[in-house]
Amino acid sequence: MASTSASPSFRPAQRVSGFGTTVFAEFTALANRHNAVNLGQGFPDFPAPDFIKEAAQQAIAADLNQYARSAGQPNLVQALADLYGPLFGRELDPQTHIVVTDGATEGIFATVQALVDPGDEVILIEPFYDSYPASVIMAGGTPVYVPLRPVHEGGGAASWALGMDELAAAFTPRTRLLILNTPQNPLGKVYTAVELEQIAALVRRSNAYVLSDEVYEWMTYPDGANPVEHVRIATLPGMWERTVTLGSAGKTFSVTGWKIGWAIADAPLAWAIFSAHQWIPFTVATPLQEAVAIALQQATEDGYFAWLGEMYRGKRDRLYRVLDEIGLNPVKPDGSYFILFDTARLDVPVEAGDRRDYAVCRWFTQEVGVAAIPPSPFYSPPHQYLTDNLARFTFCKTDGALDEAARRLVATLG
Ligand SMILES: Cc1ncc(COP(=O)(O)O)c(C=O)c1O
Repeated sequence: MASTSASPSFRPAQRVSGFGTTVFAEFTALANRHNAVNLGQGFPDFPAPDFIKEAAQQAIAADLNQYARSAGQPNLVQALADLYGPLFGRELDPQTHIVVTDGATEGIFATVQALVDPGDEVILIEPFYDSYPASVIMAGGTPVYVPLRPVHEGGGAASWALGMDELAAAFTPRTRLLILNTPQNPLGKVYTAVELEQIAALVRRSNAYVLSDEVYEWMTYPDGANPVEHVRIATLPGMWERTVTLGSAGKTFSVTGWKIGWAIADAPLAWAIFSAHQWIPFTVATPLQEAVAIALQQATEDGYFAWLGEMYRGKRDRLYRVLDEIGLNPVKPDGSYFILFDTARLDVPVEAGDRRDYAVCRWFTQEVGVAAIPPSPFYSPPHQYLTDNLARFTFCKTDGALDEAARRLVATLG
């Protein structure tokens, strides 16, 4: 939706008055105008698996079309408890530990509403998913930013680290929440067990909780030299009672338009999230929840999750190889479906008042014909200079689209 200044007397509420449109809306529109291969926004351009589509069609035909149970359809919360119980190493109660949300995005919003009072501080690690600060601001909280920093040049995602002293210094008596994202968008970093234990130690010493956004949980790319493993911070000692873990059917089953997500937490936390959720969407689409329940059961039985990771590993390698060949120094992602790369060698004019990463991504979209996303919206203004020479591509696209993007990149930059 475009912003408008139609009525001079209209004044929006303060909680939204600082918001523009998202970077994704802007660059997807630009990609469409220029017929660019859209490696900007992270939505799969390939078909969702037949088994989940058929399950949704059957649920609609069976007239499962009225309001769902507010905290989640019984079949879905049961399927989630069955899947995640062993992963968390504890029995999950489908009735009290799980809230089904309108995508992980509502899970983030509802959790922040449930935990953050005006004036509370929320630690956000940069680069962040852009709904985190918006959710904190709408709750009247204060974001406190701590950037990941490259440890050495030319390394992979694992070489971007959180300075633990810097993180420790960000905690104050007002810290109420830390938002973590692993595997991470846009760096593709997968936090190690050691890093997560260091974060957990700081959290245990405070009055804070963790919101762990794990929507890319099945997209990790271990290899012999790099034993990447997705560790759930809720499984570390003393962290179950302090952690809300989020997941997303949109990411896992390539149905981002369905907006089915979930929050898993100890009963008092889940109750607080439910208390907010019941007044946000109240319920989430019934037949789609029924379809996700069936899909989760089937995926557990037929190895779908491992297949998904391998499928994305192939796409990561395809895009990484070409970016490396043309000298854009990509950060090799250990997880998620994004790649950050270095645009320093490109001589792109930047108009006064424009950000360099925006100018470069517009240039990629208009002149190369491949849409990219500028990463500065994933940083607070004081840290946006860190992104001047960075741009983001996604590889959740067909091999045909990735190959066409590679052809255009090589034609212009090779
Ligand atoms: C880190 C992260 N969290 C949450 C979401 C949103 O998930 P959903 O589509 O389920 O709302 C995204 C989507 O891009 C994301 O990258």
